[in-house]
Amino acid sequence: MKLFQTKYLSADTAGLAQAADLLRQGQLVAFPTETVYGLGGDARNGEAVAAIYEAKGRPSFNPLIAHVASVEAAQRFVEWSDQAQSLADAFWPGPLTLVLPLRPGHGVSSLVTAGLDTLAVRVPAHPIARSLLEVVDGPVAAPSANPSGQISPTTADHVQSGLDGRIAAILDAGPCGVGLESTIVGLAGEPSLLRPGGVALEEVEHALDTRLHIHQSGDLLTAPGQLQSHYAPNAPVRLNAEAGVGDEVVLGFGPVDCTLNLSQSSDLVEAAANLFAMLHDLDKSHRPIAVSPIPDHGLGAAINDRLRRAAAPKT
Ligand code: TXA
Ligand code: MG
Repeated sequence: MKLFQTKYLSADTAGLAQAADLLRQGQLVAFPTETVYGLGGDARNGEAVAAIYEAKGRPSFNPLIAHVASVEAAQRFVEWSDQAQSLADAFWPGPLTLVLPLRPGHGVSSLVTAGLDTLAVRVPAHPIARSLLEVVDGPVAAPSANPSGQISPTTADHVQSGLDGRIAAILDAGPCGVGLESTIVGLAGEPSLLRPGGVALEEVEHALDTRLHIHQSGDLLTAPGQLQSHYAPNAPVRLNAEAGVGDEVVLGFGPVDCTLNLSQSSDLVEAAANLFAMLHDLDKSHRPIAVSPIPDHGLGAAINDRLRRAAAPKT
């Protein structure tokens, strides 16, 4: 875990400029949205996204929401649709997140989507969030700015008490208006409510003129980590391998002889950033995959969780 002198930035032009600079440099900045404070990182920078998981101490890679400044910005990353337009007309900017198919060439780190082929996008309404996103001019991945398992922060002080020393800066604009996370609607298949939140289900159904499929918590889509097939390569995966045998390609960690290396310098943040993309690449060889032992602390626990799923017998 890296340690930072967490800066307190005020929500004025100078503070916004500093926050945007830090984000562009791959640093983490907590910023206000109308729902909760988000822990922002550049969604196109895998190491920045990995650092989000590390700062939160998240045990697993849940997919994150990409925050953008406008509908036009969202359309650069996802396949837009009439239903998406209806909901954006009704609720954006605001506490609604849309899950849509990724567009080819989207450039978003696979750690944001946790390897799914959809992306959650949201245009927040908070004026400071909007200004920040306009200045950054790129997608900002942001889960709630709290350590994993703790209550979501609705003030800069909440953020500070949870994450002080773990992130570069906190942009302080007072308490959040909504204080409850955004409603998440899935539009990649039949319209579904993936998470209740700041916009009521009835309002969403009214805007779409249709009933939503309701996902129960524990459903596969709301907990993509349970969808083994999303993480499992086609080839067999062998864990804790000291070396490759026979036909195997080797996904290495640290100073080892291998086909692709998650992190030559044994850096778990770098390894997390590389994980999904490297598994994809190795799977293209259609050969069995052997994976080096990965330490089980910090992000290593999440990496090992995903690797165990990848190695689990296919059902
Ligand atoms: O109000 C909010 O939404 C706040 C503020 C900061 O914007 N953010 C937030 O993020 O609540 P987080 O990471 O705590 O919640 C994101 C949720 C997770 O439950 C995740 O499973 C779901 O969004 N999600 C993200 N991408 C998804 C996808 N492609 N498919 C299905 N669910 C997705
Ligand atoms: Mg949260």
